[in-house]
Order: sequence, then structure tokens, then C-alpha cells
Amino acid sequence: MKYQKLGKTDLNVSVVSFGAWGIGGGIVWPDMNLGVENVKSLLDEAKDLGINYIDTAPVYGTSVSEKLLGEALKGRRDDFILQTKCSLNWRGDGGNFHYSRDGVTVNNDTSARAVKQDVEDSLLRLQTDYIDSIVVHYVCKSWPVEETMGALQDLIKEGKIRAVCLSNSQPADLEEYEKYGHVAAVQEFFSLLSPFHGYDYFENCTKYGTTFQVYGSLEEGFLTDPKFVDKTFPKGDVRGKLPWIEEPIKGAIHTLFDETLTPLTEKYNCSYANLIQAWTLKQYPNLNLLTGFRRAETMRDTVKCFDIELSDEDCKLMSEKAAPAQVPVLDK
Ligand SMILES: NC(=O)c1ccc[n+]([C@@H]2O[C@H](COP(=O)([O-])OP(=O)(O)OC[C@H]3O[C@@H](n4cnc5c(N)ncnc54)[C@H](OP(=O)(O)O)[C@@H]3O)[C@@H](O)[C@H]2O)c1
Repeated sequence: MKYQKLGKTDLNVSVVSFGAWGIGGGIVWPDMNLGVENVKSLLDEAKDLGINYIDTAPVYGTSVSEKLLGEALKGRRDDFILQTKCSLNWRGDGGNFHYSRDGVTVNNDTSARAVKQDVEDSLLRLQTDYIDSIVVHYVCKSWPVEETMGALQDLIKEGKIRAVCLSNSQPADLEEYEKYGHVAAVQEFFSLLSPFHGYDYFENCTKYGTTFQVYGSLEEGFLTDPKFVDKTFPKGDVRGKLPWIEEPIKGAIHTLFDETLTPLTEKYNCSYANLIQAWTLKQYPNLNLLTGFRRAETMRDTVKCFDIELSDEDCKLMSEKAAPAQVPVLDK
């Protein structure tokens, strides 16, 4: 495993981080809830592989992911760097409407009162007295950044959190937040099929020493197997709404696999996921690869991406050949 400092903090995180959205079910995995024993096994595997950085959020499975982690981390909390999020909540005590699903209405609220309450709620669910890193889940303009960041700085002083990150944000948001404290990482959607937001962001990350934490690099599975795009997804599964399954993009994805990705996996003797992750890691030096896991096999396979010495030429080829399948902006 490779490690990096998270932004300018002293948190030494594994470059592959464990995305725990899927363990609690939710809009991509509606029928999933792994249960505590399976989550414990996944954490055992993560530890063996050197993955020490976990990402969750209150809304993943509407508290299920955090609660499972809280149980599974008992007795070994300090073995992991634990990241959760604030701003999205379903307490019904304020904020802007964000989404409504299965009878639960989730609001976005970045007021000082709300983010402080979010952290208290997560500390309880995670059964811990500190959270290493808090991500503002959806940056929002309804409250002054000074107020939000001020509250998060108070929580750092109180020892309840150690670092602040942003998500679903723009480079200008990073500029604004940095006026009131350090943003250790931005957690943003970035993939071979939609890389433009990342390209726009890298310069500002360099300016502030902020880590670019990628989510969705495997496109929730679409980039792990040539046949994935032909699947049908159950009602409620967000993958059934992604542009990848509609023509002409679907055909362009098939062509990308047939003409470029498959020959490259043969050349490098690796899985599709490894090839995609090797490409992702080459896009920016201070990049953290947040990957969703529900199975030990995919965790074990993923760490092999570090063994691949993807040439500059092949990296460029992948970017060029992906162009017909790419979409400029994708709001997941
Ligand atoms: N800030 C945000 O708004 C936001 C949004 C989305 C996600 N996230 C975070 O980012 C994390 C990752 O995103 P994601 O889960 O959407 O998508 P992802 O990482 O692109 O894809 C996860 C899927 O890829 C599979 N996979 C992982 N490694 C693999 C490998 N080596 N070979 C084959 N398949 C592999 C997983 O399989 P298995 O499940 O079978 O292991 C899972 O189905 C989430 O868990 C969450 O923590 C944040």
C-alpha cells in the first residue's frame, strides 16, 4: 500500500480508501445491508492490505453504514482513519430540500447549528469520541462559509474532529473555505468517462496543498467489466439512470472496451479495475482513490493497481479513446 498525508494535516492515509456507502445499502445497492460480521471481515481484510482510511456518511443507508462501522470498529477504532460527512440530514429541523426517498426527506443544511449537530449524531452512531475527517457533503450557498467553517474549526479545537474536507464543490468553493481554515481534501466525482470536473480542480488543489479524493472512478462497476453496461437494474437502483446505458454512449463504451481497454488489460496482465485505477492515479499526484467495496475479493484486486506501470503513451491513448463515451458534467 502507498500512503499520503491528507492535505496539510498529519493524517497518514492509504492512497486507496474504503468507500462504505455500499455496506449500508442505498440508492445504488437498494437491497444491501452487509451486517456487522461481514463488515468486520471487510475491515480485517482492509487492515491486512494496509487500507487504513474509511469513508462513510450519515445518509449512506440512512445511518446504516455509520452504525455498522460503529459496531465493527469496536476495540480497534484507532487502527483506522475515519471520515464521515455533515450537511445532509433527515432530522426535519431546517435546511434546503435535497431529496425524498422511501418516506425519508433529506435536507441540506450547512448552518453552524446543523453541522455541529451532525457531528454529535455521527459520534454516537460511530461509537467514538473523535472523527478524523469531516466532509461537507454538499457545499451549499445558503449559509456563509465563514459560519460553516467557523463551526468546524470550533469542533477541531474541541478535539471532536481533526480535519475538514469538501464534496460536490467547485474550485471557487475551495478558495472561499480556505479563507477560514485548511481544507484537507475535496471529495469529487472523477472518472475516465467524466474527468472534466477534476481537470478543472487540480490547479486549486495544488495551490492549497489539498488532496483530490476521487469517488466513482470505477463508475459503480461500469468500468470493471465490458458486459456491465448491458445489465438491467432493479427499480430504484441509481445505475439504471446513468447515461452509460443509453445509446450512443453505450455503444461508445463497448467500442472503448473492445478496441482499447481489453488489449491493455492483456498487455499489463491486469483486471479492468486495475487498468482504470492506474489511469486515475496518473492524472494527479496528490490523488486519493476512494473505492466502494462490499467484498474482500474486489478489495484484494484493487490494491494491485499499484503494480501497474502504465506508460504515458497508454494513459494518453485511454483518454483519447474514451472521448466518444465521455459526458462533460454528471450529477450523481
Ligand atoms: N461525496 C459524494 O457525494 C459521494 C458520492 C458517491 C460515492 N461516494 C463515496 O465514494 C465511494 C466509492 O464510490 P462508489 O461506491 O459510488 O463507486 P465506485 O468506487 O466507482 O464503484 C464501486 C463498485 O465497484 C466494485 N469494485 C471495486 N473494486 C473492484 C475491483 N477491483 N474489481 C471489480 N469491481 C470492483 C465494487 O464491487 P463490490 O461492491 O462487489 O466490492 C462496487 O460495486 C462510496 O462508497 C462513498 O464512500 C461519495
